[in-house]
Amino acid sequence: MNEDALLFPAGIEISGLTGAVAPFTGQYEKRLSELREIYADKSAFDDALKTQNDPLVYRVVEYRPPNSDIFFGTTTMSPGHVGGEFYMTRGHFHARRDMGEIYYTQSGSGILLLESRDGQSRTVEMKPGICAFIPPDWAHRSINIGDEPLVFVWACNPEAGHDYAEILKRGMRKRIMKDGDAIRIIDNAAYL
Ligand code: F6R
Ligand code: ZN
Repeated sequence: MNEDALLFPAGIEISGLTGAVAPFTGQYEKRLSELREIYADKSAFDDALKTQNDPLVYRVVEYRPPNSDIFFGTTTMSPGHVGGEFYMTRGHFHARRDMGEIYYTQSGSGILLLESRDGQSRTVEMKPGICAFIPPDWAHRSINIGDEPLVFVWACNPEAGHDYAEILKRGMRKRIMKDGDAIRIIDNAAYL
């Protein structure tokens, strides 16, 4: 492909209820069995896997124009919890430390948990009408705290990339817990 080729405008159809993207250029799913490392309570996790049929935790669908400095897509998260901890994404820094992102919630309710490289923790509410700004070099993880799917549109530079290793190794400072009908943000005892 010629790097200087003219890109043409496009209107991409996005369902704010299902996260469907048409046309799309790629997608993947994460099921519970792939996410053991991120939950605090491993025995609750193992029980959940025994009693449930490896539920879908989230699906990511993208629209990536070739040779563009922007791409976007959706993440659709199922409702659920493991050992009192809500379903969440793996969480990552971008490989490119100078590139941020936006998350624009379409439906459902969640918490966007962010952590700066120097260990500051922040949350941004995720609900329809809120577009979250994720600054460069802030790790980000989304958490579905509702009973419905959480659907959000994200957009960033395709060169931003992902660095999962840091969060996988250290965890994040906070955990988002279900306490009856309440939501509690607690310190992560296992944080390294
Ligand atoms: C891309 C981005 C989102 C997430 C997606 C899944 O930079 O932030 O598309 O990749 O919500 O989360 P992770 O990648 O943390 O499993
Ligand atoms: Zn990201």
